[in-house]
Amino acid sequence: MRQTIIAGNWKLNGTISDAEILLSALESAFAARPDIQIVVCPPYTTLAFAAQKLAESNAKIGGQDLFWKEKGAYTAQISAPMLKEIGCTYVIVGHSERRGRFGVPEPEFNEAVLAYFGDSDITVNLKLKAALAGGLIPICCVGETLSERQSGSTDSVVSNQTSAALKGVSAEQASGIVFAYEPVWAIGTGEVCAAVEADRVCGIIRQKVGKLYGADTAEKVQIQYGGSVKPDNAADLLGRPNIDGALVGGASLKAADFAAIIAASPR
Ligand code: 13P
Repeated sequence: MRQTIIAGNWKLNGTISDAEILLSALESAFAARPDIQIVVCPPYTTLAFAAQKLAESNAKIGGQDLFWKEKGAYTAQISAPMLKEIGCTYVIVGHSERRGRFGVPEPEFNEAVLAYFGDSDITVNLKLKAALAGGLIPICCVGETLSERQSGSTDSVVSNQTSAALKGVSAEQASGIVFAYEPVWAIGTGEVCAAVEADRVCGIIRQKVGKLYGADTAEKVQIQYGGSVKPDNAADLLGRPNIDGALVGGASLKAADFAAIIAASPR
């Protein structure tokens, strides 16, 4: 039986004083669920504080991104050894917002600005391999945009992103990766993907892993759903056979909501 993994992606939110308040309010919710894996992914500047704050708890810390080089002349980049040293166990890789794909339209983000975000299937693969080499567990995000869904290419987009991310990754390594199916159109929009459909697409990811590495590996891989997960839809999503957890954005910033999502986890 795969363990459920509930992760909070704080994105560009969370000064140290915000984190002190939020994590204090979540202490008992975390302590109540030693049976599931809880992960908190604050911004870089809050990681050290959060790692210290959660040192005695059953929750782990994750970075929101990393660079694939360990060190060098790469201004503003952060590497796997740096995240590891500061206490991270996990790192998010290939989030749609790092790929420059946003569910909520950003009028000032034209083509040139979007290039700044710039993750591609190739850099996602480099980052994923760097995370593994550095002893971090990648939470690898895949998901289609609204126009890709409308044109019927959801399954191929998700499938292709999955195989591209796994290029050069061994079966043993692959079995330890967490995937997150995050349809871009459901992120931050309040428009959750129906649980049946989220489960189906998580199944597509599992099938792809199975094709690449065999049924054993596919059975081991944990697959989260992310995109407008809230207390009122969490139990339905988390009760589905192919959904092993949630990657939560907005609701992970509200203690009561994140606590309710954790509590709603059926296993
Ligand atoms: P929301 O839960 O705010 O839709 O964000 C989901 C997400 O992108 C998590 O990584």
